[in-house]
Amino acid sequence: MDFQLKGKLAYVNAGAWGIGEAVADLLTQEGASVIVGDKDEKVLQEKASRWTGVVAADLASAAGVDQAVRFVRQTFGRAPDILINNLGLGDSASFEDISDERWARTFDINLMGCIRLCRALLPEMAARGSAAIVNTGSDLAKQPEPTLMDYGVCKAGLLYLTKALAKQYAPNVRVNAVLPGPIWTRMWTREGGIVDQLVLHYGVADRDAAVKRFLEDRYLPLGIGEAADVANAIVFLASPLAKYITGSTLDIGGTLRGLI
Ligand SMILES: NC(=O)c1ccc[n+]([C@@H]2O[C@H](COP(=O)([O-])OP(=O)(O)OC[C@H]3O[C@@H](n4cnc5c(N)ncnc54)[C@H](O)[C@@H]3O)[C@@H](O)[C@H]2O)c1
Repeated sequence: MDFQLKGKLAYVNAGAWGIGEAVADLLTQEGASVIVGDKDEKVLQEKASRWTGVVAADLASAAGVDQAVRFVRQTFGRAPDILINNLGLGDSASFEDISDERWARTFDINLMGCIRLCRALLPEMAARGSAAIVNTGSDLAKQPEPTLMDYGVCKAGLLYLTKALAKQYAPNVRVNAVLPGPIWTRMWTREGGIVDQLVLHYGVADRDAAVKRFLEDRYLPLGIGEAADVANAIVFLASPLAKYITGSTLDIGGTLRGLI
């Protein structure tokens, strides 16, 4: 399928690994010029030759977002046609243990990164027209989990933001979100990541057993997805093929338990 992306300029926020990396590669493969921002400078430099440009910055800070926006404007000479807001990070904790500082940090990572980028780039994207934004949400936005409350609240906020921005900037900028279920990335596999957290949660010794219990508990018959499963949907929503879709929030793989 031709996603009709040749000549488009795209910025992928938080793309050194995982879903963001898969999106950056697919956009590039489809003919777009792609800049990737991330805080992992070493890995960005290792992968830099695959994309038009890379910018290393803490994208959960106002200064880091400013730096990324400056780099994008300098490299492309203007705002991008496509903005992928993929920054997000969640660690389990009980509600009573989440301090004010952690709430503030979680907001900075999971909501403010997207808000700051949209505020900086959307006016120019809207002025040019035919632009698209895709935000990476989570199935937890619609299916609250007590152990990931700060993360889930931010992902629910991202849905509101997606729909409100879609309304404000239509028809010049389409704004959509994807809501992935579990996707096998470093979020799961890194030391202290979701798999390790599940081992502790279920009190089992074995990582495979912990994942199996999780899939049964959450009723996830499709199992765990891959970064490419999400990237395919994001690139479609960012492409002109989705020209009649805005304000939508697409469930990917994980949301069979409820009606919404
Ligand atoms: N993996 C899943 O199961 C899952 C499910 C639902 C939603 N998501 C969402 O998908 C998105 C991508 O997650 P992933 O699974 O690919 O994770 P990942 O850990 O593979 O990638 C996250 C990327 O974000 C970067 N990053 C983290 N903090 C940063 C910061 N402060 N500044 C700049 N870059 C930073 C990391 O270096 C990494 O490249 C996130 O928004 C996450 O919430 C993931």
